[in-house]
Amino acid sequence: VDARERVRAIVAAHQGERGSLMPILHAIQDEFGCVDQEVVPLLADELNISRAEVHGVVSFYSDFRSEPAGRTGVRLCRAEACQSVGAERLVAHAEQVLGIKVGQTTPDGSITLGQVFCLGNCALGPAAQVNGRLYGRLDPSALDAVLARETA
Ligand code: FES
Repeated sequence: VDARERVRAIVAAHQGERGSLMPILHAIQDEFGCVDQEVVPLLADELNISRAEVHGVVSFYSDFRSEPAGRTGVRLCRAEACQSVGAERLVAHAEQVLGIKVGQTTPDGSITLGQVFCLGNCALGPAAQVNGRLYGRLDPSALDAVLARETA
């Protein structure tokens, strides 16, 4: 899924809300693990505001990171097709074994847990992207194995 599409979908989900930039930025950080430089111009375009304005908000609030905090980035798909085959169970499992919530990074800086809404891998759900690699048909133990391998 390309970043522009995701940014567009997140903006659409918050359409009509007043002061929607903050919730949108939080949603982006939850999904991408950070608000990176690439996302700023996309967001400015979608919201019809200047890049400087977006950048100003991102840099003013310490909640936002410009780089994923963890060495390994994990994004679990929570869109409909994956939900119907157990994505939420996988999210709950990941949060439990890592001891963090979606959008957070483990205290040792090894893993940032993120979420994504469709990776284009719906037939093989629940899907996830770990360090940019796509995985499918994950259950809790398969996810554990992936995490062990990707963080080794
Ligand atoms: Fe998860 Fe499409 S819904 S990959």
